[in-house]
Amino acid sequence: MTARPEAVTVPALRAFKERRERIVAVTCYDALFARLLDASVDLLLVGDSVNQVLAGAPTTLSATLEQMLYHTRLVSRGAEHALVVCDMPFLSYQVSVAEAIRNCGRALAEAGCQAVKLEGGRAIAPTVRALVDVGIPVIGHLGLTPQAVQAFGGYHVQGRGAEAAARLEDDARALADAGASAIVLELIPAPLAARVTAAVPIPTIGIGAGPDCDGQVLVLHDLLGLTEGFNAKFVKHYAELAGAVRAAVARYAGEVRSGQYPGPDHFFAK
Ligand code: KIV
Repeated sequence: MTARPEAVTVPALRAFKERRERIVAVTCYDALFARLLDASVDLLLVGDSVNQVLAGAPTTLSATLEQMLYHTRLVSRGAEHALVVCDMPFLSYQVSVAEAIRNCGRALAEAGCQAVKLEGGRAIAPTVRALVDVGIPVIGHLGLTPQAVQAFGGYHVQGRGAEAAARLEDDARALADAGASAIVLELIPAPLAARVTAAVPIPTIGIGAGPDCDGQVLVLHDLLGLTEGFNAKFVKHYAELAGAVRAAVARYAGEVRSGQYPGPDHFFAK
């Protein structure tokens, strides 16, 4: 029998950086996949991307708190080793610090995650500080923050040019100073991600941010090749499951129509 790996804790994230050990993160939205992924990864992010990937919405903006709590609860049930992080949806933490504490607190108390993720830099640093002060660990998110897609005018690389890069680095320092435990860096030039990673004492977790971050995250359904038609440069397919699903269900449909299924092995004669 192999020993189960020790559960990843929030303080352990910083230790990964100190040991120069890369953090492996992936999105997860349910207990079934959480059980499959748990032993291989360090962090399961219940991303608000669930609103696009599973719920079919055009953006993450319409994700609700109840939706995120529901999916986080499912993932928490399936995870024993990996750290579970709930991505807080649009308007659940921006309106006031009091609302942020109540909503993020619900993610820990009701959905069983160990940390929450918030998008934004200096503008939300006071909220991050207030959350950390009441015992709610926070992971920040900078660069292409999808909840700001309307302000960005689309899903474009962020932090290009000296001024934008300096702003992003200041945002990262502000999050670290406010007590954030890690920062997701999404869709920024690799040299900027390397600079930010060197500038802050907390780990950076990149997605479309190059090889020099302290860890990497991908949307599970992208890496499994399930999200057909989404071909971002930074995504690598480790399987082609969309084709496998179509082929399996087409075979099933054919066998049902031809009467081949159920065969003698698949029913009770008495
Ligand atoms: O919602 C999400 O899946 C995310 C990751 C892409 C970082 O925020």
